[in-house]
Amino acid sequence: MNVPAERVGRPAYSGQVPEFPYSRLRRWPDVEAENLQAHDATDRLLVDRGVALAAERRIGGEQIAVIGDEYGAITLALTDAGFRGIRVHQDLATGRRALARNAEELGVEGFASHELDGGLLADARLVLLQLPKALAELEEIADAVARWAAPDAVLVAGGRVKHMTLAQNEVIGRSFGLVQPQRAERKSRLIVASEPREVPERPPFPVAATHDGVTIVAHGGAFAGARLDIGTRVLLDALGLSGADSFATRTGNGAARRSTDAADGRSRTVLDLGCGTGALAVSYARAHPDARVIATDRSAAAVASARATVEANEVADRVDVTHDDAASEIPDGSVDVVLLNPPFHLGTSVHTGAATRLFEASARVLRPEGELYTVFNSSLGYRAELGRLVGATEQLHRTPKFTVTRSIRRP
Ligand SMILES: C[S@@+](CC[C@H](N)C(=O)[O-])C[C@H]1O[C@@H](n2cnc3c(N)ncnc32)[C@H](O)[C@@H]1O
Repeated sequence: MNVPAERVGRPAYSGQVPEFPYSRLRRWPDVEAENLQAHDATDRLLVDRGVALAAERRIGGEQIAVIGDEYGAITLALTDAGFRGIRVHQDLATGRRALARNAEELGVEGFASHELDGGLLADARLVLLQLPKALAELEEIADAVARWAAPDAVLVAGGRVKHMTLAQNEVIGRSFGLVQPQRAERKSRLIVASEPREVPERPPFPVAATHDGVTIVAHGGAFAGARLDIGTRVLLDALGLSGADSFATRTGNGAARRSTDAADGRSRTVLDLGCGTGALAVSYARAHPDARVIATDRSAAAVASARATVEANEVADRVDVTHDDAASEIPDGSVDVVLLNPPFHLGTSVHTGAATRLFEASARVLRPEGELYTVFNSSLGYRAELGRLVGATEQLHRTPKFTVTRSIRRP
């Protein structure tokens, strides 16, 4: 066992964690802004408590798993403190890249990245978790820890007090016999859970539901779960992809649908950017058997969901799903059509930078005169921005809440 020598046999945690240069961490390639940081007080609390518990229980780095480490603060601070062999799971491609870059920048090595699976958690005795926003994601994680970690594993979950709810304790309590919320410190709070319960034979996720003949499969962290989001439905409707009574069919022009059909004999490349569970990609692939469809998302939970959705709808031969940030691996000018239902929440703060990134990515990957179909909450008024970043933008459809636009990539 690889326990840092200076921590072994300490009678009690002294409260001294070696100073780690948190302020040198960066969020890049994620959106950076003055009011957005690459670490928070919860990271520090998790590190401090993690070091204390590891010393008390003689836990080495290879018995520690970290989940939800946004930009690597927890993993890097602990590794820097001497814990080698930590396993870490991050959902976002941006977070994974930020961790790799921060590690290189600070010269910290000796940890390994994993998906949320047995490889991450087998024999782990200490699991440090930045609480996710969605209860479904927390449920999947808590079950995974109870399922795969050591029988004496302790889960320490932390969050900002203003974002925490009693429902989180309940969800953790489904997988752990003892759940102890701690006193708040620096506006953050830890929940310490132990005594993993016996798990059901089947994990609670993924879940599946069928809408208009399309089966959607969702892991806990995927946007909208196995539901079809209202915005997604409005976009499908405008594209004539939501069944016979679609907006495109009703208005008789079918413009959106025709314009995305192959016209010159070559198969079209269509990108579902920020694919979530893959509802847009699969609906498009089913209606356009000749198209080559790429579905991409920065969330690993979304990617796993989209892959399962693609399988469930038997279009795996025509749809590729990739884990990537803002289509960075897709060559410039190589896509004919982009389908986009952009995020407008960044973490728990409303920030339009996330959508702008995807508009810029669309402009980059589209060929000249390629088309971007976007749906957004009408109050957001993205039309001018789309016109500036992509090209001529027209309103295709509007409901009381949502607007669908088509932008033509300027030559
Ligand atoms: C509003 S959801 C739409 C999901 C899906 N297209 C649908 O309509 O149900 C936005 C999706 O964009 C993804 N996303 C946000 N920023 C991204 C980025 N920089 N690169 C790739 N995907 C991103 C999110 O993870 C989320 O799955």
